[in-house]
Amino acid sequence: MPDPASAQSALPSSVSLMERFQRIRAASESICAPLQIEDYVIQSMPDASPPKWHLAHVSWFFEAFVLLPFLHGYRVLDEAYDHLFNSYYETHGKPFPRASRGLLSRPGVAEVYRYRQHVDAAMGELLARPPVEHVAEIARRLELGLQHEQQHQELLLMDILHILAQNPLRPAYRSDLRPGPGQLPDEPHWRDYPGGLQQIGHGGEGFAFDCETPRHRQFLEGFRLASRPVSCADYLAFISDGGYARPELWLADGWSLVQQAGWRAPLYWQRTDGRWLEMTLGGLHPLDLQAPVCHISFYEADAYARWAGARLPSEAEWEIAASDLPITGNFLENDHLHPVAAPQAAAMSQLYGDVWEWTASAYRPYPGFRPLPGSLGEYNGKFMCGQMVLRGGCCVTPQAHIRATYRNFFYPAMRWQFAGLRLAKEA
Ligand code: AVJ
Ligand code: FE
Repeated sequence: MPDPASAQSALPSSVSLMERFQRIRAASESICAPLQIEDYVIQSMPDASPPKWHLAHVSWFFEAFVLLPFLHGYRVLDEAYDHLFNSYYETHGKPFPRASRGLLSRPGVAEVYRYRQHVDAAMGELLARPPVEHVAEIARRLELGLQHEQQHQELLLMDILHILAQNPLRPAYRSDLRPGPGQLPDEPHWRDYPGGLQQIGHGGEGFAFDCETPRHRQFLEGFRLASRPVSCADYLAFISDGGYARPELWLADGWSLVQQAGWRAPLYWQRTDGRWLEMTLGGLHPLDLQAPVCHISFYEADAYARWAGARLPSEAEWEIAASDLPITGNFLENDHLHPVAAPQAAAMSQLYGDVWEWTASAYRPYPGFRPLPGSLGEYNGKFMCGQMVLRGGCCVTPQAHIRATYRNFFYPAMRWQFAGLRLAKEA
């Protein structure tokens, strides 16, 4: 039996925790505030989800993993939601098929917001009087639930852009976004990093997903990293040089996709009357040549790097370069909701924010990795096949969500996330 003093110290100040809970919950709703009711229901492709579904699913996560196990007498709002809003937790229950989420006209948007209130009220009750013997586990799951909701805030914005981009009217999600500084990025230079035995992964205090652990050693040869990500102007040079028509630059899987899907430019780029335009959350705009290139697949990042006589960095190289830098950059809070040129030249710029950077590393378990116990073990571990790691966060990631050890992951063909690249080479 844990003594009450130490048990209480696991929920250090339930007031500030409650405030943080409310702030993060409210942020999801602010993201949806500019939507029209019809926008909430569209599923524009099997990998994306309707905004309404995101809002319900993150609430279901608290219900399934915090309220039902730990709030005595908790009553669900609707029995059916445990099926509809379970994303992929097979050991918890029966997930509703992902590709059919857009068929759920009911529950309606108003009912989904009511569901959020129902869950929030119950969470308030639980956090006001958490059962002493479960305080530490509640705190852990609450933190996971908040980090999960932040992941879905980014997914919401990715999916909203994808929804609006299907419409030939090219509607803007918001027309009051802050413009970037619009400066010319200087020519990138190479920064050298010594080789040797290094350590990567999460070891210390503070939250990290299970996939970031354990901290472990890795031997790196000396390497060089470009001081900034590849820009749209850089990428246009690749296109003009026949990048999409030269099989020798491409991995076989990428080359078949280029031909099958007819890729000729990043997702959301279009050429109209000889000008390059880009669909953004602010609507259709002339391409910002100074900004980091975005919405490219792993295959395109890899082909670009080969064309440039370089390669993608490994996730360990990226982490070593990032680990002593402050976590500043163009994140969700900067309210550009689009990658922008760095405000000034730096020895190493934009590792954090702007665009997720594709790495050369497969999303696989670190040596000694153990998934979380129980159904929450399905959160990350079961996806460790066939996907690539991306690092650093982007312009729609909440800043507090990112750290040097953070491993994002997507299948190599996916382009709707805000992903770009930075070049690396041998020292
Ligand atoms: C890390 C972005 C691939 O979209 O499934 C959301 C994030 N995990 N809910 C995903 C996530 C659980 C995840 N990605
Ligand atoms: Fe989720």
